[in-house]
Amino acid sequence: MEKHIYPIFDRMLQRSDREKLLGQKGIMLWFTGLSGSGKSTLAIALERELYRNGILCRILDGDNIRAGINNNLGFTEADRMENIRRIAEVAKLFVDCGVVTLAAFISPTEKIRRMAAEIIGEKDFIEIYVSTPLEVCEKRDVKGLYKKARQGEIKNFTGISAPFEVPQNPYITIDTSLHTLEENIDILKKSILPHIKQE
Ligand code: ADX
Repeated sequence: MEKHIYPIFDRMLQRSDREKLLGQKGIMLWFTGLSGSGKSTLAIALERELYRNGILCRILDGDNIRAGINNNLGFTEADRMENIRRIAEVAKLFVDCGVVTLAAFISPTEKIRRMAAEIIGEKDFIEIYVSTPLEVCEKRDVKGLYKKARQGEIKNFTGISAPFEVPQNPYITIDTSLHTLEENIDILKKSILPHIKQE
């Protein structure tokens, strides 16, 4: 029986084959920061800029993922952990396809972010801390959630009634209240392109 089993692994294409096909390297760009800090805005603008440079990207972001694959999760510590665990597993598949994968999630604790990095692989994981101060995020209050959180209508709100731990060793830190979007994208592009280009 065994002698008629032919493992297919040696015939399966590798990540490096897919990267060669695309002419780029798959990496994970992990944006972390408070709600309203500008994570999604940066990810969207960076994708457009990289697209113009012929680079294939895929964005995963909080509000979309939470409306779909993670629509059964809330904002307790355990649910946030599960949220990020599933996202990291999905992101890993994209990275393995050679895609530049951008994730924009609060991912509020060191433990959560380290789990994501471990699942995806430390060498592929680029942490971008969007450090826009709470006062600025709260003033923007694009979704009106800070107001609700202050009034006690939303519990466990990051920065108000739930913790956000500042990343210890991010690869890049960007405070979106200090520079224009164009300037920030320029900074990001310059430091990221060398990781995407094939030798
Ligand atoms: S994470 O903590 O699990 O990483 P995620 O990035 O997916 O969070 O979702 C954050 C988004 O959910 C926020 O931008 C906001 O729109 C919404 N949200 C709703 N309730 C909360 C809450 N209690 N804390 C933080 N964000 C919340």
